[in-house]
Parts: sequence; C-alpha cells; structure tokens
Amino acid sequence: MTIEPQPPTSLPDSAIDHTHALSYWNSVSSDNNGMLGGYPHVSLVDLKSSSIFLAKLRRGKQRAVKQTLPPLERVADCGAGIGRITKGLLMQVARRVDVVEPVEKFTDELVREMEGSADKEGVGGRIGEVVNLGLQDWVPEMGAYDLIWNQWCLGHLTDAQLVLYLRRCKDGLRKSSAVDGGGYSEKGGWIVVKENLSSDVKKRDLYDEEDSSVTRQDEKFKKVFKEAGLKIVASELQRGFPKELYAVRTYALQPE
Ligand SMILES: C[S@@+](CC[C@H](N)C(=O)[O-])C[C@H]1O[C@@H](n2cnc3c(N)ncnc32)[C@H](O)[C@@H]1O
Repeated sequence: MTIEPQPPTSLPDSAIDHTHALSYWNSVSSDNNGMLGGYPHVSLVDLKSSSIFLAKLRRGKQRAVKQTLPPLERVADCGAGIGRITKGLLMQVARRVDVVEPVEKFTDELVREMEGSADKEGVGGRIGEVVNLGLQDWVPEMGAYDLIWNQWCLGHLTDAQLVLYLRRCKDGLRKSSAVDGGGYSEKGGWIVVKENLSSDVKKRDLYDEEDSSVTRQDEKFKKVFKEAGLKIVASELQRGFPKELYAVRTYALQPE
C-alpha cells in the first residue's frame, strides 16, 4: 500500500481571492459606515490618534518644539476607500495626496465630493493622481513620496504580495526631505501601516471569508517588514476603540 502525500496545512493567506474581495467592497455603501464595517464613530478617534502619531514622528527628537510643521510635498493614501484618511488627515499635512484604491465607486465619491467642495484645494493640500488598482499591482513612482499611508487594507494581500509591495514602497520613498529639519525625515520618508492584529490564542493569522482578507499577528508583520528590508522607527497601539474590536497597531517604517 502506498501512502498518499499529505497537502501542507494551508496558510490563511492562501485563501485570499481578490475577485471575491472586490465584489464584497463593491456591495458596501460609499460612506464611513461601509468603510468601517458598521463602526463609523471610530473614525474620529482613529484620525485624531493618527494625526498625533504623525506629528510626533515628524518632530522626531525635537518633540518639545511646538512650531507648525511645514507641509509634506507628496503622500499616498493606499487602499483609500472613499478617502476618509485623505480628507481627515493627509490633505491637512501634505500639498498633494495620491489616492490608490481598486474600487472605482469609492474614488468617484471622493472626486465628486472634492469637485462640490467650495475649497477645492482642501484645507491644505489637493488630490493628485487617483489610481484604481489593488496594491498588489501598484508601483509607486521611485523616490517620490514623503509618506505612504496604508490602513485597514493590507489584509487583502497575501504575505508574498505584501513583502513585494512593501519593497516597492521602500523604493517609492523620497530619500531625504528638505522640509522636516530635525525629524526622522532627514533620513527620508516613511511608510505607515495601521492594521488590526489577530487575537487568536494560538497566535495564527485569521482568514475572514466575508471580505476575503487576513488579520495578521504582530509577529507576522515584523517578519514581513524584515523581509521587505524595513525597520520599525515608531509603533503605537490604538487606544479608545470599542472593546469588541481587534487591537489596532500603527507602525512607521523606514529602509533598514
Ligand atoms: C476597511 S476599508 C479601509 C479604507 C480606508 N483605508 C479607511 O481606513 O477608511 C478597506 C479598503 O481596502 C480596499 N481594498 C480591497 N482590496 C484591496 C487591494 N487588493 N488593494 C488595496 N486596497 C484594497 C477596499 O476596496 C476598501 O476601500
């Protein structure tokens, strides 16, 4: 009798199906409720914490100095949805925000809203390029970005796609910035990753059938960042979210 070879235990990210994910996202409403899975009210505290995180990151060692920070030149909001973060954070800190999002109805909503707004340039910055692609297919322009923001969307990429994507982001960072004297940005731009963390007691990533995504554990993120040649320069756990939600961690990354 021959023994049949057993298939390797399948990894959660091997179940990711981009077509299924896109049909899920196309079925939800183009508003904060759709973006945030029925928790639209967390948006405010999320944006406030992100704004403080980013200001601390930019000030670097000069945290005590409270003068206004100059605008970043060019940033990207990745997996941007309807541009919740673009409007609520990035346009306030950057001259130009490129938007990368595969679902056209979300970016159409953002563009419509910007066209209808009295201040088309936004409070500070304006929308630059709008790119309707999944991040697995997006190639950032080399050396172009002061900041590449990724929030609540990287679970749609497999581990292998994520490593490759982050390597491309690393190449997409501006090498050194003239605008942020004193902060980390003397060493160039940052990639920010803000994502849910797996709560699995066996420390596994968790696959979600509904939107075909994975929720990774902190250790997995660290492994992926290392493989992509990135180091964590700052990291923070989100506070003030409802207890029933996953823990959320923000990582700021720069090339090793
Ligand atoms: C939970 S929403 C978050 C939107 C936005 N980042 C925010 O925090 O408001 C997830 C977003 O990821 C997008 N998405 C789905 N598949 C993606 C992919 N392969 N690459 C990039 N974004 C993707 C969805 O269309 C959706 O807009």
